[in-house]
Amino acid sequence: MKTMIGTLLIATTFAALMALLVIYTGIFNVATEWEDPAPIRWALVTTRENSIQSRAASIQVPPPKGDKQIDTGFRSYREMCAMCHTPPGSTDSPITKGLNPAPPDLAESAEHMSAAELFWAIKNGIRMTGMPAWGPTHKDSEIWDIVAFVKKLPGMSKDEYLTLDDRLEKGHSHAGSGHDDSKPEKNKSHDEDGHAH
Ligand code: HEC
Repeated sequence: MKTMIGTLLIATTFAALMALLVIYTGIFNVATEWEDPAPIRWALVTTRENSIQSRAASIQVPPPKGDKQIDTGFRSYREMCAMCHTPPGSTDSPITKGLNPAPPDLAESAEHMSAAELFWAIKNGIRMTGMPAWGPTHKDSEIWDIVAFVKKLPGMSKDEYLTLDDRLEKGHSHAGSGHDDSKPEKNKSHDEDGHAH
């Protein structure tokens, strides 16, 4: 028994010393270009998925409100999400390219996440990644609008996205039809939101 306690004590002291070594020597590379080894990535992804799943389990999903809700959600996505979560058929922005972990394709997320899970992730954000929490600045109803749009992303083509963009831009001052691949068009009045040009 005594040897067991002794071994445990030595192991714990060694682990603590190793941790202090990593913290104080600067040996750990915080650069985004450093890719996590597969076991660390697996641990991070599994932790995230289980954290979101367990917290979203008690969320009641309100009934859908139809096309208008999707249009409203689209506007928010274009202003608040598209610079990181690349729209259908577009190329990645400099922000997207510079983030580690990379912002996932939300069309894929919408397929494997429930509406409640999407809502939880959007409202609360994901710590130690680039994913902000939108709960502090947006009402639940506004976040549900975004969820409604994100649920439409699977299978949406670039043309469908741009058609939606054009339709909702009507009546706004708009740069015209010169869409490029890298970003959705946006309303001038929101230029201060850090959108990558
Ligand atoms: C500054 C960049 C950035 C912005 C802006 C951003 N996100 Fe994210 N988002 C991320 C990153 C990075 C991750 C990946 C986190 C991870 O790997 O754990 C992420 C993860 C997510 C996830 C979890 C996906 C999954 O498959 O687990 C959802 C859902 C999501 N974002 C939705 C949104 C929505 C909706 C918006 C706009 C309201 C938004 N994000 C705005 C960077 C961003």
